[in-house]
Amino acid sequence: MNIKQLLYLPLWYFKIRFSGKQIPLQTVIFITNECNYNCKHCCVDKTKPYSMTYDEIKEHLIYSYNQGSRFVDFEGGEGGKYKGGRGKYRGKYGKELDTKLGEVTGEYKTINDLCTLAKSIGFYSATVTTNASYDFSYFNADHVFVSIDGIKTHDIIRGKGAFEALKANIAKFPAPRKVSANMVINQINRDEIEAVLEFVQKSPYINGISFNFYNPVNGETALCVNDREAIIKTILNYKKRGYKILNSERGLKYLISPDFKKDCWITNFITLDGKCYSGCPDKTYCNICGLGMSGEMRALYDFNFQTILSGLSLRCRK
Ligand SMILES: C[S@@+](CC[C@H](N)C(=O)[O-])C[C@H]1O[C@@H](n2cnc3c(N)ncnc32)[C@H](O)[C@@H]1O
Ligand code: SF4
Repeated sequence: MNIKQLLYLPLWYFKIRFSGKQIPLQTVIFITNECNYNCKHCCVDKTKPYSMTYDEIKEHLIYSYNQGSRFVDFEGGEGGKYKGGRGKYRGKYGKELDTKLGEVTGEYKTINDLCTLAKSIGFYSATVTTNASYDFSYFNADHVFVSIDGIKTHDIIRGKGAFEALKANIAKFPAPRKVSANMVINQINRDEIEAVLEFVQKSPYINGISFNFYNPVNGETALCVNDREAIIKTILNYKKRGYKILNSERGLKYLISPDFKKDCWITNFITLDGKCYSGCPDKTYCNICGLGMSGEMRALYDFNFQTILSGLSLRCRK
């Protein structure tokens, strides 16, 4: 980030604190629901395969930028495998657009085109989250989040061979400082948190890990853990010992009692149907939200120093 971009941040903070306006700083855009995995905890509805067109995404990015957003995260499905056609108007799901994963003919746009587009519009950074099931070393994103859901339990949640594939593919990425892990804690992998922390700590290919808790999908709570406080205390303990944990202390503490007042409007979400939401699209489970970013956004609103530094250091990395 350059000086002008850095200066935007205090200006944004001043505006949201003193004008009372809810101006987004970050955008999460779901560009496809297509994916080669079918993870046990997944919240993505994959019944009607669809990818947004490049021009639709462009429109949403310009809209979000004009709202004030300066950081974008491309989400899926498996966003890294995005193959988008051109054109502004959507057809019926999966029918009129030639954007089906792996079946595109003619000109199509990739995730790298989207990251380049975002930067050309003026976004300060573009990030992508991936299941790392394939060689993603070609990504030109400013930061890549790799999902890791355990050591042994990674395969139980994500499918046979997934952990070996992840290990092989993170090793191929040319800039380890730009790769972070993301773990979603649930009933299946709760006993592997420490093993994952050791793995990340020793890995030269991952610069840190952020933790989330499983959010119910279609009312299904069987994967929810019922002793968050004890788990968070363990994570905080590791953080104090210098383990590479990206969540701030304050953000983690917020997740202990997730009915805290949310400031999730700091992120705007664009869903696959083209709708734009201030904060999460689905607010059904706000009171039990397990997403690390909900705690971090609250901590950012509180002007928590650790949260600000952690956010900036991820995004300023070269
Ligand atoms: C929807 S996935 C899309 C990116 C990519 N396919 C992946 O798995 O990394 C983005 C992140 O959301 C997490 N996630 C999926 N379902 C979730 C749920 N029900 N609660 C919390 N996080 C979830 C995934 O584990 C992943 O880290
Ligand atoms: S890889 Fe990501 S999008 Fe695909 S099923 Fe798993 S969590 Fe869902």
